[in-house]
Amino acid sequence: MTTMTEEPGNPSIEAGIAAFTVTLIIRRFDPETMSEPIWQDFDVEMYPTDRVLDALHKIKWEQDGSLSFRRSCAHGICGSDAMRINGRNRLACKTLIKDLDISQPIYVEAIKGLPLEKDLIVDMEPFFASYREIQPFLIASKEPKDGKERIQSVAQRAVFDDTTKCILCAACTSSCPVFWTDGQYFGPAAIVNAHRFIFDSRDEGAAVRLDILNDKEGVWRCRTTFNCSEACPRGIEVTKAIAEVKNAVLSGRPSIPTA
Ligand code: SF4
Ligand code: FES
Repeated sequence: MTTMTEEPGNPSIEAGIAAFTVTLIIRRFDPETMSEPIWQDFDVEMYPTDRVLDALHKIKWEQDGSLSFRRSCAHGICGSDAMRINGRNRLACKTLIKDLDISQPIYVEAIKGLPLEKDLIVDMEPFFASYREIQPFLIASKEPKDGKERIQSVAQRAVFDDTTKCILCAACTSSCPVFWTDGQYFGPAAIVNAHRFIFDSRDEGAAVRLDILNDKEGVWRCRTTFNCSEACPRGIEVTKAIAEVKNAVLSGRPSIPTA
């Protein structure tokens, strides 16, 4: 039923926007009291301008303070609130309730393939271990010519521009069926972040990273299912980046414009 809530100062009320009740069915898990996760439903009154993150806040603040999830920026930047919403990996802070089918319950659960800690929280350490392994930092032995800047042309910057946008949310890696079945696979996010440095004309560590990714748990595990590209909230062409790294491994060097 459509209702209006008396909430002074609420911009949706001031704009005359109608509220509606939506049901969230959340996969809950408490390691101290449960052996298996259970699904629990909550009805919440929301506005079309609200996001799934707002619904989770409302549940936590008004119905069940024990509901656990990660979030920080609430604006698609920190990457901490990736979760499965209606079976698809998304950021809760970037998913508007009105863009989902609100005639049906909204299913929310933790991302897959990483150890479940509590409710919507997983242990991200295996994910960050793979990220660290590809050496995600500039490797440069020489001082810049003027002692200040390592100059790069627009064309040289363009080849890795897309992969600079990664916010390490793990939506790609945890949507990959290979990662679900083989916990050793580096996963798309680590390869995206390797790409960001392999194709950087100022970097000297490409050979080391290509060697790391030529490992049996490296790029060749990718089966090009495109789940990663579909899941990425930053719109990064993840599968394309992986293909470019595969080509660089085969040729022994990345293809970078000389100027
Ligand atoms: S590539 Fe996209 S989905 Fe994967 S970790 Fe980076 S931002 Fe998240
Ligand atoms: S809370 Fe920071 S990306 Fe969603």
